[in-house]
Order: sequence, then C-alpha cells, then structure tokens
Amino acid sequence: MTTDALGPLVFTEPLPLTVYVHMPWCVRKCPYCDFNSHTLRSELPQAAYVDALLRDLEGELPLVWGRRPIAVFIGGGTPSLLAAESIDRLLAGLRARLPMGPEAEITLEANPGAADAGRFHEYRDAGVNRLSIGVQSFDDTALKAIGRIHDGAAARGAAEAAHAAGFTDFNVDLMYGLPGQTAAAAKRDVEQAIGLAPSHVSHYQLTLEPNTAFSSQPPSLPGEDVLADTEARCRERLAAGGFRRYEVSAYAQNGQECAHNRNYWEFGDYLGIGAGAHGKLTDAARGRIVRRSKRRSPAAYLETATFLDRERVLASQRELILEFMLNALRLVDGFPPGLFQARTGLRREQLEAALRGAKARGLVECSPGRIRPSRLGLRFLNDLLGLFLEDESAGTATG
Ligand SMILES: C[S@@+](CC[C@H](N)C(=O)[O-])C[C@H]1O[C@@H](n2cnc3c(N)ncnc32)[C@H](O)[C@@H]1O
Ligand code: SF4
Repeated sequence: MTTDALGPLVFTEPLPLTVYVHMPWCVRKCPYCDFNSHTLRSELPQAAYVDALLRDLEGELPLVWGRRPIAVFIGGGTPSLLAAESIDRLLAGLRARLPMGPEAEITLEANPGAADAGRFHEYRDAGVNRLSIGVQSFDDTALKAIGRIHDGAAARGAAEAAHAAGFTDFNVDLMYGLPGQTAAAAKRDVEQAIGLAPSHVSHYQLTLEPNTAFSSQPPSLPGEDVLADTEARCRERLAAGGFRRYEVSAYAQNGQECAHNRNYWEFGDYLGIGAGAHGKLTDAARGRIVRRSKRRSPAAYLETATFLDRERVLASQRELILEFMLNALRLVDGFPPGLFQARTGLRREQLEAALRGAKARGLVECSPGRIRPSRLGLRFLNDLLGLFLEDESAGTATG
C-alpha cells in the first residue's frame, strides 16, 4: 500500500456524464498522428462496428444506471467515413439505452477529405448537432507536407457544407508550427478559419509524437521563437474575431464551448465505447473512481465478446490530485476549489500541499473562489504540470 492509499471517497453531488465513441479507421494514416487510427485497407465494416459499439455500451450500462449524458462525442479516426444510416442507428441505440435529452450536444468529427455536403445534411437529420472539422491548414503546400488527404479548397468546402446543412455550431481544428510555416502563414490560416464563421476553433501546436512516421523521420519544424510569435499572433487574431480562449488550445465564440471536452477537463465522468476508447467513471456508492479502456485493435474489437482491455482504480491521493490537475489546469479560468472536492471526493484542504510549489513559482494564482494557472503557468503548462508529476510529497498532507 502507498503511504497515501485512499479510503472510500465522498461524493456529495452527482457528476456530469458524457459519452465518447471512437471510430478507429481513416482513409490514410497521417504521419504525425498517434491516435488509435488505422488506414482502411478494405471495405469499412460499418454494420458490424455499430453492432459491436452497441454491445460494448450494453456492458457499460450497469456502471451508469439512470444517469443522463449531457453530451456525446463521436471521434476518431475518421467518423465521417460512416454513412448517415450508421450514425442514425448508433444514436438511436444510445438513446434507447441512456436517458438522453434533446439538449444533449452530439459532436461528430469530420475529415474534409472524407465527408460531403449531402452527408452533413443526413448527419443532422440523425441528431448530430455539432461538427468538428479537421482542417489543419488551408495552405496546400503545408497540407501536403503533413500528409493530409485533402487540399485547402476541400477544407473550405467542408465548412461551407456545414453551414448549408444548418450547423450553427461547428469547430475547425487547425495545427500550427507546420514544416516550413512562418508566423504570418499560420495567422493567415486563422484568418481563413474565422472567415468561415465557425463557433469554435481548436488551435494545436504540431507535436512529434513517439511511434509516428514523423518521430522516426522528423520534418524540419519552426524554432521556439517562431512558435512563440505564431502562438501570440494567432491568439490575438482569434480574440479580435470574438473567440475566447477557454483552454490551452480551445477558443469559442459566444460561450459555445465543447461540452464533452469541458467535462473531460473538469474531471467529470465519461463512458468510452469503441476500439481503444477510454472512459472514467465514478462509483459514488463504493467511493471510487475507475478508468477503463477498450481493446485497441479494430479487428480484435470486432471479434471480442469482452471489450474491456484494462480497468484501473485510482488508488492514491497523489494520483487523484495529479489527474485532476493535469486536466483542470488546462482551463484558462481554472476551477473553483469546490469543484476539486465534487470531482475527486477528497477534501479541498488536501490540495494545498500539491499547490504550494506551483504558487511559489508564480505558475498558479489562488483566490478564495478560484484556482487558476497564471499567464506564466499557461505559457509553460508542461513545467507547471511537471511539478505535480515530480513532487513526491504532493497530496500527502491532510488539512
Ligand atoms: C483525432 S483528430 C480527428 C480529426 C480527423 N481525424 C482529422 O484529422 O481530420 C483530432 C485533431 O487532433 C489534432 N492532432 C492530431 N495529431 C496531432 C499532433 N501530433 N500534434 C498536434 N495536433 C494533432 C489535429 O488537429 C486533429 O484534427
Ligand atoms: S485523419 Fe485524423 S485521426 Fe486519422 S490519421 Fe489523420 S489526424 Fe489521425
């Protein structure tokens, strides 16, 4: 037993629940991507996959009896490879098994190279009310350099098709720090994205992830100075366009934040179905939090009767505090101390020791109603989060 082994956690209010559905195939694997996504080499087994997703869901139901999901996120991979009938059957299956209201946010990720305008209309009819379009850039040379299957015109076309299909709420994913990209070019991408009137922009710095084609053969990427300049110029342009930054990489217009992602960052519960999907669920009656992940290989997932690959109970105070902080400190406005208590089942005083080092370094600001990353903390988020990873004493104090 660790020195800070947990007794039962105490939850005084119900936690919000969302559902994540993973689709593990893409037209072609991008060289930078480390998601559980695989090049589709034969016909998409959509009927079998939706059947498997619904069986997977059946197995999870006892863990969430009676709970009402506030959002569903169908991510990937490339969910827009699925025909609207498959999405319709999936959402009907979810609604038949979970008490979902019409207000639930239902997002589907779409790749501009694997979606068309007609399909967007049908997704909407099936109940999808938010799209997330993987644009990355509008510059054909940059798109080629990162191995995308579409050009800038297709990216613009996808956003226009979203409007035409009646989506008032859609996100555009952009990446910056692309091979050979200048700060001015990245800003032009942001400008073009704003011109397409999305409700949300996700603006990610391209990272070289282990076990990707780019990690074994790295392209030449912009240096630190260019990256800092790019990030600052794009952030200012997004702000001028009315997009409020609410998380390190997420910007929303008129408060139209992504409900699933916000719940994730606020350490709410989410049920994960699909190949390689992760879930985090609180068992309030037994006073514990469990992380569950599903079989990663699409072929194994399709064949299995037992979808669960791994289940892990969060077993120490340190681990729980760390996991909460890794998510909540990504939020620009941080979190009220009461949220820590509501989501971890620990007492708020138990956070103090973990926060001490971060406060001393000026990376976190604390007021009676709020704990938030400072400007410095947000800029050097990895250093801030690293403090919680390193600090062996973190979370061992009691209040
Ligand atoms: C799982 S992808 C889903 C979107 C869809 N598959 C597509 O690519 O069009 C989610 C987003 O993560 C971002 N992403 C993926 N790998 C990344 C990396 N190595 N560095 C930064 N962002 C990355 C991309 O912006 C991508 O659109
Ligand atoms: S299309 Fe999206 S999920 Fe698929 S490999 Fe490319 S970035 Fe990854």
